[in-house]
Amino acid sequence: MVGTVIIQNGTLVCPEGLRHGDVALEGDKVARIAVHLEPAEGDEVYDVAGCWVFPGFIDAHTHMQCWTGMDWTADSFETGTRAAACGGTTTIVDYATADRGVTMPDALAEWHRRADGTCTANYAFHMALAEWNERNRADLARMREEGVCSFKTYFAYDHLRLNDAETLEVLGALRPLGATLCVHCENGTVVDALQRRVFDAGITGPEGHPLSRPAECEAEAISRLLYLAHLAGDARVNVVHLSTKMGLDAIRAAKARGQKNIFVETCPQYLLLDDTRYLERGEDGFAGAKYVMSPPLRKPSDREALREALERGEIDTIATDHCSFNLHGQKDRGKGDFRKIPNGGAGVEHRPALIATSFAGRLGPEDLCRLMSENPAKVFGMWPAKGRLAEGADADVCVWDPSVAWTISAATQHQNVDHTPYEGFECRGRARLTFVNGVLAARDGEPTGTKPGRYVSR
Ligand code: URP
Ligand code: ZN
Ligand code: ZN
Repeated sequence: MVGTVIIQNGTLVCPEGLRHGDVALEGDKVARIAVHLEPAEGDEVYDVAGCWVFPGFIDAHTHMQCWTGMDWTADSFETGTRAAACGGTTTIVDYATADRGVTMPDALAEWHRRADGTCTANYAFHMALAEWNERNRADLARMREEGVCSFKTYFAYDHLRLNDAETLEVLGALRPLGATLCVHCENGTVVDALQRRVFDAGITGPEGHPLSRPAECEAEAISRLLYLAHLAGDARVNVVHLSTKMGLDAIRAAKARGQKNIFVETCPQYLLLDDTRYLERGEDGFAGAKYVMSPPLRKPSDREALREALERGEIDTIATDHCSFNLHGQKDRGKGDFRKIPNGGAGVEHRPALIATSFAGRLGPEDLCRLMSENPAKVFGMWPAKGRLAEGADADVCVWDPSVAWTISAATQHQNVDHTPYEGFECRGRARLTFVNGVLAARDGEPTGTKPGRYVSR
């Protein structure tokens, strides 16, 4: 049993706005919020003057301990959620995946086996489906009962993708359940053809990756998804990892037609980096492989369009698509053939610092809260227990010190991977204290060694 935790003198990021005051955590709930709370003997007291107190950040797109068709991701639930908590993230929503021939209940049980008892941050599961059949249709309601209210399908990757008619069926089947379909929007058949074309033209290094997955592949797939969702009666869809202005324009067009229930996610890599990174060589001539993820990094003009859209409130959530692979021993298997580089990058530890720093003066604490805590909780069925600093809410809290200057480096990170796409990035602001279910899980960017993370049934 954890005693009362009193967080004093913070700038509290509450649903009604910023206020100055104290927060008491009792057990796994926020018990009281007031201008001043008098600690009792034995209370654990933290003076956080100068800090922002957020409801814990939520990363609604991760791939921990996952076979991706080419390799296993480098972070387990243990290492990934520990890294998450060090950066201020108190809940991840990870993509459990029912590969072809595997039922959704079996996949869910397997993801529980991987995560249960190992996590520092809380974890929930989306369920990705790699095939559509009557068994899967029947199991959707059971998934819903087991706390899964969001699903995922792919338009790309040969071993995962559904065709358009199947996608339409899934959208129709999810609608009565009030569930959300997250979709990986890239035109996979076109990507396959372009990969062959680029490789056959003699472009074999990481710079071939973005050439084989142009913006049109994303925009076409987003547009197609949104028409299918409209056909299914404005089914609830979440466009994951939006990376292009063309894709953004497809979303704008659907919204302008009056379509409802469209949610949009982007990731730090599409807001901060661009495709010049594929030309990095590094010591072994292969550093560009660090950035091989799908969708790929885009043009500076795409990045600027997404940043503007974010500031204008057109993007609902920022997640990471954390999908880490080591450069040495994993990504380097694609030397000489970019098609064999496992797709994905790391970020679960650094998202709050990257966004707070990069948008300093443009997004305030309430915006950071909306994009990385409140909206993910609302879109993915965790509101009002999570995503809200309020009495009665879950005691997931991030105390953020906006004054700390520090530098991201693979040498000091907690993500279990040999590089970071953000090496050398100078951050302003860091999680001073991260509480998960009322337990101090990380302090000043370092784990405390506790594992208070729990499954979040949504
Ligand atoms: O490259 C990426 N993002 N790999 C993870 C799977 C996905 O597409 O989200
Ligand atoms: Zn994806
Ligand atoms: Zn992903």
